[in-house]
Amino acid sequence: MIKNKKILVVGAGGFIAGHLIKELIKNGNFITATDIKPKEYWFQDFDTAKNFYSTDMKDIDNCRKVTDNIDYVFNMACNMGGMGFIENNKAECMQSVLINTNLLIACKEKGVKKYFFSSSACAYNKKKQEDVFIKGLKEDDAYPADPEDGYGWEKLFSERMCRHFMEDYGIQVRIARYHNIYGPYGTYDGGREKAPAALCRKVLNAKKNNNKIEVWGDGMQTRTFLYIDDCIEGTLRLFESDYSDPVNIGSDEQVSINQMIEIIENISGIKKLERIYQLDKPKGVRGRSSNNDLAKKILKWSYKIKLKNGLKKTYDWISSEVNKQGSNLSRFTKS
Ligand code: GDD
Repeated sequence: MIKNKKILVVGAGGFIAGHLIKELIKNGNFITATDIKPKEYWFQDFDTAKNFYSTDMKDIDNCRKVTDNIDYVFNMACNMGGMGFIENNKAECMQSVLINTNLLIACKEKGVKKYFFSSSACAYNKKKQEDVFIKGLKEDDAYPADPEDGYGWEKLFSERMCRHFMEDYGIQVRIARYHNIYGPYGTYDGGREKAPAALCRKVLNAKKNNNKIEVWGDGMQTRTFLYIDDCIEGTLRLFESDYSDPVNIGSDEQVSINQMIEIIENISGIKKLERIYQLDKPKGVRGRSSNNDLAKKILKWSYKIKLKNGLKKTYDWISSEVNKQGSNLSRFTKS
């Protein structure tokens, strides 16, 4: 475990970073945290961390200001969301390249020792994800390059930028390809939410209202989803490993969206909802799944939390948030 280090977390107000900071603080690290969102929109609050900056890290001067006397950097920042957001905001998504690039330059200037980049399964070649059930994507399947348009290209390019900063300037880099991370303290409404949170919210609404659920696509598309606690453990193990190429951080419990809805219906205790399939909504790739052989081998790590257990925790959390918010949008809408 990383202990007593000075760590900068960029994108600290977001979902994964919030959980990461909590763990890093537990281990006695000193956190500097930045996010473009004002503090009231940060997904979690950390009473014990003192250095918070609401600042735009696309600007290199801001990167320089926060990298003084820092041992390690976790770049968890990007303008992103589920398919509903990334398919309709490609230019916004691609501008996150400025965060990673300027941050790396500042880290090089300030002599930061190690740098973590949060990449994504969207970096994988789309042509290898055209069937409903695909074999797990291995790290090499990102090439030949043909990633998700916009967001995926930014991730793939930034992975390479990290690699070249390591080769040319000696900064140690660690790169995770996250496969649809979900759990409490994530976005569940407003347009950026990913399928697990969106479908928990929709089942809750259907239960209160008309027993109908709107599903994007035909529901047969598949994914593997990873619960946030497993994600944090995998992330920290990767950070402490000596492996500098991208590594999948995912589960191998591949389910269709229809199967996931059934799991959520069981959690909520209602009978089968009427499905309204919306074929014109953003669907992304047809099938995606994570091959985790590399993570098992080099990190001695595999996911522990089964989808039905992770969804139960997520559903319960969203349910209590929705009760608090009433019909207002939550603060978790800002990503
Ligand atoms: N978001 C959402 N909301 N998706 C839905 C819904 C809904 O109400 N109903 C069905 N889906 C379907 C989508 O059409 C898509 O086929 C599938 O559920 C998964 O959608 P998302 O969870 O939004 O995105 P993704 O898995 O395609 O990609 C996400 O994960 C990547 C990492 O694996 C995105 O968040 C990417 O940004 C991320 O990199």
